[in-house]
Amino acid sequence: MQAPVPQHHKKSALVLQDRSHLIHPQHHPSEHLDPQIWVSGKGVMLTNIEGKSYLDGLSSMWNVYLGHGRQELVDAAAGQLKTLAFATAYAGSTNQPAIELAGTLKRLVYPNIEAFYFTLGGSDATDTSVRTARFYWGAKGRPEKFKIIARKLSYHGSTIGAAAATGVEEFSAVFGPRANGFLHIDSPYPYRFATTRTDVSPSVAAADLLEEAILREGPETVAAFIAEPVQGGGGGVIIPQPDYFPRIREICDRYDVLLISDEVITGFGRTGRWFALEHWGVEPDILQFAKGITSGYFPLGGVGVSGAIKEVMDSVDARRRWMHGYTCSAHPVACAVALANLRILEEEDLVGRSATLGKRLLEKLQPLQETPHVGEVRGLGLLAGIELVADRATRERFPDAAGIGKKVRDELFSLGLCTRVTDDIICLAPPLVISEEELDRLADIVRQAISNTTGI
Ligand SMILES: Cc1ncc(COP(=O)(O)O)c(C=O)c1O
Repeated sequence: MQAPVPQHHKKSALVLQDRSHLIHPQHHPSEHLDPQIWVSGKGVMLTNIEGKSYLDGLSSMWNVYLGHGRQELVDAAAGQLKTLAFATAYAGSTNQPAIELAGTLKRLVYPNIEAFYFTLGGSDATDTSVRTARFYWGAKGRPEKFKIIARKLSYHGSTIGAAAATGVEEFSAVFGPRANGFLHIDSPYPYRFATTRTDVSPSVAAADLLEEAILREGPETVAAFIAEPVQGGGGGVIIPQPDYFPRIREICDRYDVLLISDEVITGFGRTGRWFALEHWGVEPDILQFAKGITSGYFPLGGVGVSGAIKEVMDSVDARRRWMHGYTCSAHPVACAVALANLRILEEEDLVGRSATLGKRLLEKLQPLQETPHVGEVRGLGLLAGIELVADRATRERFPDAAGIGKKVRDELFSLGLCTRVTDDIICLAPPLVISEEELDRLADIVRQAISNTTGI
């Protein structure tokens, strides 16, 4: 019998091959000297090739809502793969899981959202939203209404269109000119937004930046405003004040501008409501989603459109139809997994659990705000951010050279928690199935890691 290959030999051979032949999202070798090779997962825990386990503090990519190793999702995928692994959904064809999923979503989303188109993820959902907004105005005889207003510190994806909507410069800077017709206003960012206005709250002043931009560009040229209800990947969990989105909705209505809610991170209960604009009593015209809809067990995203948009799509001449489509749209296996995932979210009331556990997490973390290097602890449901600062009084950031974000991330990891630190903001979005004990352990690790790295 051959002696087993030691794990470290196996790992180094795999890493060598990976470094030679695999290109990664946000690729750079300096970030990939000793990559984690994840081999298995159970519940909120992930295990690497060396057999070490870590708490998955970000639900991997903010998406594994039901945790790892859920047999029901495996069965849903396997069952559908056996029955019908693929079918086209181009007009003239359809499939049962997709029909059923559209019906289930109609029950769960904002009441005004009427119909759904399925994509493979969030970036193509952004492209779909942008194209649909432009199509809508074109079909209504206003093709000059094509500009899209987005926000700084937003992330909407990495296709040409989605990166143009994204408000973080690095996603476009090295790829040549941005697609035409996108502009960005400041984010509400309650902890940092400054205004000289005294007649309204700072968040209403932040919302009014949209009106200023629409008037500057000319309302007859603006198709839509796209925003994440809580800015996640680009902003480091920025939660607006309650008066921000109601004002945004008013402004959009005043100037015939569609409101696109990018709920790729906030959808399906992440913030303690099915969809996040529900917190503020606002409905979008277009809703986009991905990630949590399948808990990451199969790629799927999509957009939902209002009745008014659906009516236009249904009533145009066939030669002027909504000429948009992906081979894998409404993939039957993805839709079957989504149906099983949504059924479990409902049966186990994980949306309610996200709200309850989110409060517990904030209670555990809020005392950190008394320490010198924690500027703000914020959260909505099981989505939280801890912003580290050099000086709590002035809110001054750590200098880049201090590399504090990376140090904290490495310390969190060495204490057993895997998560992301964006611009010195620790982002937390654990699986919605996390237990109270696991959540308390997560909070303890965060406290310990901040103390170990900032020396307090
Ligand atoms: C708000 C938001 N929109 C869009 C995207 C892009 O989604 P994907 O990576 O599935 O293309 C992301 C990804 O993180 C996101 O957070």
